[in-house]
Amino acid sequence: MRLYTLTNKHGLKATVTNFGATLVSLEVPDRQGKLADIVLGYDDVSGYEKGKAYFGGSIGRYGNRIASGRFSLNGKTYQLALNDGANHLHGGTRGFNHVEWNARMLSGQSVEFHYTSKDGEEGYPGTLTVGVTYTLTDNNEVRIDYSAKEGPGKDTIVNLTNHSYFNLTGNPQITIVNHELTLHASRFTPIDAGSIPTGELRDVKGTPFDFTSAAAISARIGQQDEQLKFGRGYDHNWVIDRKSPGLVKAAEVFEPTSGRLIEVYTTEPGIQFYSGNFLDGTEKGKGGQVYAFRSGFCLETQHYPDSPNKPNFPTTTLKAGQTYTSTTIYRFSTR
Ligand code: GLA
Repeated sequence: MRLYTLTNKHGLKATVTNFGATLVSLEVPDRQGKLADIVLGYDDVSGYEKGKAYFGGSIGRYGNRIASGRFSLNGKTYQLALNDGANHLHGGTRGFNHVEWNARMLSGQSVEFHYTSKDGEEGYPGTLTVGVTYTLTDNNEVRIDYSAKEGPGKDTIVNLTNHSYFNLTGNPQITIVNHELTLHASRFTPIDAGSIPTGELRDVKGTPFDFTSAAAISARIGQQDEQLKFGRGYDHNWVIDRKSPGLVKAAEVFEPTSGRLIEVYTTEPGIQFYSGNFLDGTEKGKGGQVYAFRSGFCLETQHYPDSPNKPNFPTTTLKAGQTYTSTTIYRFSTR
């Protein structure tokens, strides 16, 4: 595991590693200008190798779930690993977050990773060459650019994301439930008991999933609600409101005590807001600390879960010879 350090002119600092093309640490200032690391992670590579929480990793070939790990493409059925109950999750037993990538520093603020996923790897068709570039801009943004291209001429499916867990207090011993969330999304994709979307795009109005104006994560998370029960809290895909393709603002999260604000921009159609419901204090993280229930949250920009089996969702098929691109920006400031 090699570490690459990115710094910008305001003193922000990010470290990334070629193992899993993972964001390891991210130091951003609070409203007093005090830097703190606001992402969860491990101290060494064995943490990332054994870890089950996907801390900071680049997720693929297919981020999120595929029902029964099965899908059909061009009349052929493919069976992937079932690593999440009866379903496939985050690329399988050895997803992109668990492999070594090639790295190339582009500048002191940018590093590019490459990985070639072989035809048949984790059951996916086609050889896929994947690129992930992290850039720490002078606008206090972590910009992640993804690209992917299939090699010898087979169509495949792709859905890449980043699985950073944020805690904007800078102290993951404090839960994230008082963070205030806005999601620029008037619909979400409800799930079944196995967290697979039903195919419906449901209006958030009048539900605990309405974050169209800012609300504390805690405000409605404890409500009696079938969707919250299925997700053990929030662990759902929202349909980002957009009028045209390109980068749009999908989310923002404000942490009142530190004043830190994160804004998320993406070219993707969806965003998974996950409130850290499976963190249970069993994994040892940075500095030997443990991460308890809801001590971090994720905002995973993505195509909707189980798209290969949902003809009404935007397609995740990558045709042979075509190039997939996707960009997500996490912008940091204070209020
Ligand atoms: C994703 C999933 C969650 C959980 C985490 C990792 O966000 O949607 O259900 O599996 O990854 O723990």
